[in-house]
Amino acid sequence: MADPAAAAAPLVRLTGVELTLESGAGAVNILRGIDLDITAGDTVAVTGASGSGKSTLMAVIAGLERPSRGRIVVAGHDLGTMNEDALALFRRRNVGIVFQSFHLIPTMTALENVAVPLELAGRTDAFARAADALKAAGLGHRVTHYPAQLSGGEQQRVAVARAFANEPALVLADEPTGNLDSTTGASIVDLMFATQARIGCTLVLITHDTTVARKCRRHLRMEDGRLVSAPASREARAPHADRASGTTARPSS
Ligand SMILES: Nc1ncnc2c1ncn2[C@@H]1O[C@H](COP(=O)(O)OP(=O)(O)OP(=O)(O)O)[C@@H](O)[C@H]1O
Ligand SMILES: [Mg+2]
Repeated sequence: MADPAAAAAPLVRLTGVELTLESGAGAVNILRGIDLDITAGDTVAVTGASGSGKSTLMAVIAGLERPSRGRIVVAGHDLGTMNEDALALFRRRNVGIVFQSFHLIPTMTALENVAVPLELAGRTDAFARAADALKAAGLGHRVTHYPAQLSGGEQQRVAVARAFANEPALVLADEPTGNLDSTTGASIVDLMFATQARIGCTLVLITHDTTVARKCRRHLRMEDGRLVSAPASREARAPHADRASGTTARPSS
């Protein structure tokens, strides 16, 4: 039976998250006490200067990096209690990730790049679903192409199809338009928001582009490993602001 308390919980909750790495020059504090709740279905922009910790924040939410201190719960999973195998399974089922540099597997066709993670997630309809996802991304005519035969924008469309194909609860995108010209980048952003709206997942989008950030309902800014207050997004000031204000902002500054 569904647990009403779990249903009301945020999709993502970070409590007192710190990440400190030892280097030759001494300890480097990369995340310095992050408290953050993200509501299911929200769209969240993360901005901040280079080196402020945005990619690291994304990595700890995805369970790719373990924090030195603090707790991270995503879709009911307490990541700190899970081993690497359990984290890999958690990601396959719950998280889609889009990287700046696409991260497609060069020896696989577009179709295989999308289908193989679906198979690993246990989908018996992986190839049919992957074909649908590529078609929805405008690449129905490119499914048998290898990444090297695709433009940068097309490669990122494959990566977006791959991230959303399993209809994960959470999609994380780290500067998804960073390697693209502005027109192509805008079309990728439009595709991501349209897909997010269609499947109703949560989207966390790291960007240096304020135009992109304003498309998100919520805007977080990182400064030197901490979350600081950020200007309200366009949607947050619009009539639908009730959804955004239902999101608990707990910046740590
Ligand atoms: N494995 C590591 N070892 C040591 N320092 C690291 C490591 N990974 C990241 N850092 C440092 O942590 C800080 C935050 O890095 P991060 O990549 O999260 O920044 P960012 O905000 O994503 O920057 P950018 O906008 O340039 O992508 C940087 O100072 C970086 O040099
Ligand atoms: Mg980064």
